[in-house]
Amino acid sequence: MGKPLLKRIAEKVLGSEYAELIWKRVEILGDIAVIRKSYSIDIPIDVFKALGEELLKELPYVKSVWLAVTPVHGSERIREYVHIAGERRSETLYKEHGCIFKVDITKVYISPVLGFDHMRIAKQVREGEKILNMFAGFCPYSIIASKYGKPRYVVSIDINEYATYYARINIELNKVSAVNEVINGDALIITSALGEKFDRVLMPYPDLFEEALKVSVYAVKEGGFLHPHLFIEGDNKRIALENAYRTVIERLHNLGVVGKVIGGHVIRSIAPRKYHVTVDVYVEKKVK
Ligand SMILES: C[S@@+](CC[C@H](N)C(=O)[O-])C[C@H]1O[C@@H](n2cnc3c(N)ncnc32)[C@H](O)[C@@H]1O
Repeated sequence: MGKPLLKRIAEKVLGSEYAELIWKRVEILGDIAVIRKSYSIDIPIDVFKALGEELLKELPYVKSVWLAVTPVHGSERIREYVHIAGERRSETLYKEHGCIFKVDITKVYISPVLGFDHMRIAKQVREGEKILNMFAGFCPYSIIASKYGKPRYVVSIDINEYATYYARINIELNKVSAVNEVINGDALIITSALGEKFDRVLMPYPDLFEEALKVSVYAVKEGGFLHPHLFIEGDNKRIALENAYRTVIERLHNLGVVGKVIGGHVIRSIAPRKYHVTVDVYVEKKVK
């Protein structure tokens, strides 16, 4: 197999040493290319501008290039960006699993790294389910699950008003408005206020693992499913997954829930020996 296109473009502009550090940090989101700045090396902005111009030249479908100058931060999980080439536009149409999503990359969390998990969850949804998505973002989990899983309805919550704005647009774009409702606010408060029991609760935000799990046990039915996300240590992916399984079952036990792990997935490695993992749990019994 030849060299990946992004690597070749980066090598042409930056030489192989810099390119090695950067090319995996380029993401294509719709017609926008995002370069995530590395914090271990200091590269002048002009170098990124040259890379941006080359990306525009080599990838005709890319119309705008942005440099992400911070990691995701704050409860809304967004980054700070600097525009470096092409159209000064941060809104785009992003496609995943046959669905289309309008997003502003500077206003909502978006990461193709969750793409596999969006479909992995959709495949588990059974017809007629009531689903709660506590940290829905622009609604990729909810919409892909609605398209492929035929739920009765999906309630999606997000604290970022831009995320709920784009979620509502995306629900219309994908023609799933009959089964979707979006709420803007804090899921840790709203979930209990809903006073409803769901067949499946998604918690795609590892930073609030403990808090979300506590709330989710009230919102899930016996015989339902929980999908918490968490950060976990491990010498490798397999060990991290086993550690996550054990941690989730223990926490649920302390919350009065007998749970059984039926699956899981390592979303990404976030540091040496540290992973972002999600676990699929069947709720056998609620004792409290
Ligand atoms: C990692 S992103 C997940 C986004 C989305 N599920 C996806 O697949 O792209 C986490 C989301 O949780 C939202 N969030 C953070 N704290 C929240 C809270 N307390 N209640 C509701 N949403 C929250 C953020 O705004 C962000 O959109």
